[in-house]
Amino acid sequence: MTETVLLVGGGGREHAIARAVADDCALYACASVRNPGVRRLADGFESIDETDAEAVAEYATAVDADLAVIGPESALEAGVADALDDAGVYAFGPRAAEARLETDKAYQREFMERNAIPGCPDYAVFDDTEAACEHIDAYDGDLAVKPAGLTGGKGVKVIGDQVTAEEAKAYLRDSDYDRVVLEERLVGEEFTVQAFVANGDVRTTPAVQDHKRAYEGDEGPNTGGMGSYTDTGLSLPFMAEGDYDAAVDVLEAVVDALPDYKGVLYGQFMLTDEGPKVVEFNARFGDPEAMNALPVLDTPFVDVLAAARDGEPLPELAFSGEATVCKYAVPDGYPTDPDAGAAIAVDEESAGDALLYYASVDERDGGLYTTTSRAFAVVGRGDSIAAAEAQAEDALAAAGDRVRIRHDIGTADLVQRRIDHMDELRD
Ligand code: AMP
Ligand code: GLY
Repeated sequence: MTETVLLVGGGGREHAIARAVADDCALYACASVRNPGVRRLADGFESIDETDAEAVAEYATAVDADLAVIGPESALEAGVADALDDAGVYAFGPRAAEARLETDKAYQREFMERNAIPGCPDYAVFDDTEAACEHIDAYDGDLAVKPAGLTGGKGVKVIGDQVTAEEAKAYLRDSDYDRVVLEERLVGEEFTVQAFVANGDVRTTPAVQDHKRAYEGDEGPNTGGMGSYTDTGLSLPFMAEGDYDAAVDVLEAVVDALPDYKGVLYGQFMLTDEGPKVVEFNARFGDPEAMNALPVLDTPFVDVLAAARDGEPLPELAFSGEATVCKYAVPDGYPTDPDAGAAIAVDEESAGDALLYYASVDERDGGLYTTTSRAFAVVGRGDSIAAAEAQAEDALAAAGDRVRIRHDIGTADLVQRRIDHMDELRD
């Protein structure tokens, strides 16, 4: 039977999801952004705000969807999975109560403590700004300052890295967050493990390293992610034996505590000299990390979705064994002062063997133009990170100078720096 799948969301992540399922299902999509890649792959598309749970559920019913995949966290927070489930359309995405694991960082740490999930840093929760500032003054060591709610990956300030203690206090006093989490600053290298979760099963995909800083050499402000890479196996070159499995143990412990969780569970880890610690959980694929994981997944993603819906064990996953390097092209000036309206000069054909994924682009007069967000990404694949990186760069040669790319992502130099950093910390 051919499944009818509704995809919610319109970014690069959702273009990757669309490509992973389009050949094996009838695909419909809805989002506020009119992603040309998603629209080309879908049999139907409707402009719907992805946080309008009732409208999404109505569209799902109208197209007779058998199941739905939800991309963005804003939709999960708005209860889109709840509305779809209640309308009789299985949503591969957690209900709002379980998505709190991502949408409320205070809840997330309290959940970890209550359930003895390994890898939880020291933390404290404050709903009073002055009390938080006093804690910063009194704490022996550096802290990460995290607004409890969603901030698109841009709300966290790390003392001793991005800001001084005085700047962190000024930041808290200037913004009026209701609740903040102050936690021990973790030092090491970050990596992500994304898992498909349903019916108590956890099926993990290769570890990914994202690059959050806007500029080469990890300088500049934090972004939603400038690009990311995976290696040929499940682990990354700077990880030691056992680190990947330790991360999987964390995800499994979360699902043991939340047996009804369904959808993608994304663990963001800091690999410290004591092993992986949890930076955060997300309740969905990462963007860009979905663009690394899905192109090397040989198991049809639709089979995972159907098993999840049918209450069956999830299939064991098979991967192609290729390394991947994903690089985002963003408008010049992103994220602080983005230059919208630049023509996009790379398309699926000119990308050659690399994969092209659209994110936020404006389609008019037969052309595509940048907006104020990340515009498009290319993904190179190969039998090494270096080969994948070269393929991505070939595709980006025509990108022009009105978009900015972190050309250092996936290069031998940067990967070596990660390895050296971990060697130093472990000594
Ligand atoms: P989050 O929104 O929780 O993913 O945080 C964004 C970024 O802030 C992370 O990717 C880390 O680079 C950094 N970060 C968050 N928490 C910590 C921490 N406890 N120690 C060091 N860096 C952190
Ligand atoms: N790339 C980080 C995220 O999607 O949260």
